[in-house]
Parts: sequence; structure tokens; C-alpha cells
Amino acid sequence: MKLSDVQQSEGLTGEIDGREVAAFGRDGQMIVLENVCTHRGCQTIWNPDEKTWDCPCHGSRFSADGQVIQGPARAPLKPLRFEVVDDDLKLVE
Ligand code: FES
Repeated sequence: MKLSDVQQSEGLTGEIDGREVAAFGRDGQMIVLENVCTHRGCQTIWNPDEKTWDCPCHGSRFSADGQVIQGPARAPLKPLRFEVVDDDLKLVE
């Protein structure tokens, strides 16, 4: 996943180092979340109108920074540490 792609889209799903991620970037802010819904593990989809991560499986919704807006999920999406190398996002363990 490339930093420039995230900056152009606000919310972008994809893969970094073999992990499904949900990345949000706006106004110099950058957040990378594990894209695994904390209810039953489905992948969320960016909702550009509401600026939320929406889970298609059972309707959970998360804010851009991963906090629960609507259940059934009760826990936030997990934030991942990352670094930018050239234009590539890399996860930091
Ligand atoms: S797996 Fe996401 S709401 Fe159930």
C-alpha cells in the first residue's frame, strides 16, 4: 500500500506485509488499522459519505480512527504501528 494512494482517497483498504489493513489519511493525519471487524472478523469497507468503516456482515460501524459507532462489535479496530519507506507503508512490530 502506498502513502500517496491513501492521501488521495481518505480511506483505503488493502494489504501490508500480508495483513489486511484499513488506512485513513487526511490533513496530515495518518491512521492504519487492522481491517478485521472485532465482532466476527469480516473486513470493513470505507464509507466516503459518513467517513466510517462499515462492516458488511452484521452492520457494525467504526469511526475513521477505529472507534465503535454502532455494534454488534464492542471493541475498536486494532491500530497498527507503521512507517513510511519511500512511498510504501510498512508495518512496525
Ligand atoms: S463481523 Fe463485523 S459486524 Fe459481525
